[in-house]
Amino acid sequence: MSRVIASCKNIVKTFNSGEAEVKALQGITLDVYENELLMLVGPSGCGKTTFVSVLSGLLSFEGGVCELMGEDVSAMSDERLTAFRGENIGFVFQTFNLLPSLSALENVALPLSVASKKRQESLALGLEMLEAVGLSGKEDVKPSGLSGGEQQRVAIARALVHSPKFIICDEPTSSLDHKSGQVVMELLTKIIKEKGASMIVVTHDNRIYKYADRVVHMEDGKIIKVAS
Ligand SMILES: Nc1ncnc2c1ncn2[C@@H]1O[C@H](COP(=O)(O)OP(=O)(O)OP(=O)(O)O)[C@@H](O)[C@H]1O
Ligand SMILES: [Mg+2]
Repeated sequence: MSRVIASCKNIVKTFNSGEAEVKALQGITLDVYENELLMLVGPSGCGKTTFVSVLSGLLSFEGGVCELMGEDVSAMSDERLTAFRGENIGFVFQTFNLLPSLSALENVALPLSVASKKRQESLALGLEMLEAVGLSGKEDVKPSGLSGGEQQRVAIARALVHSPKFIICDEPTSSLDHKSGQVVMELLTKIIKEKGASMIVVTHDNRIYKYADRVVHMEDGKIIKVAS
């Protein structure tokens, strides 16, 4: 039996924006195992981004329990949570979140400077990751000079550079053509196998389901089906 990396029980999250109340998560229960690639799918607005934000400790919630590597997220101080995320979690945001004033390489190496690695070592590792996502030669270019697909691959390289145990990718292939999407998925699968990491991939692209160990279907803030 594989070890549980992340465990969610009955997670409830409601957004209050002005008059309207949105019940984004309505009791989500899910365990993520070591070494597995789990895909999270479902219609726009069903709560996928909200759920992975909770799972990575980026978003607070009002009901239920979320444990990461056995630690209760709600019980961690902000400081502890930031350090924990820096060490253990890699996150590819749906909106990339690259820093515009930094080059591609500096963006990729950023998590290592947070982990206080030496600059030369960080840049060397960053270059390796850029090469792995097919962006050799683009290291000095700033995000504004990169295509959407290239920015997405920089975001992926940045999420992987510090070898996190738990990787969360929100639509990692949405800006990529089919072939680049396959390259990225091959890379992500290889990393899981080599490093024994676990990964959640949010996607609308059913052509990449074949890489998944399990596919979790969400609708209206609930899990409606888990297929393996
Ligand atoms: N910060 C917020 N404030 C208010 N409502 C929000 C906020 N973030 C998300 N929501 C709402 O919560 C619901 C779930 O949003 P979420 O972003 O999790 O959907 P999603 O499944 O990721 O959709 P998509 O496939 O379009 O990315 C939606 O109704 C959305 O409008
Ligand atoms: Mg989303």
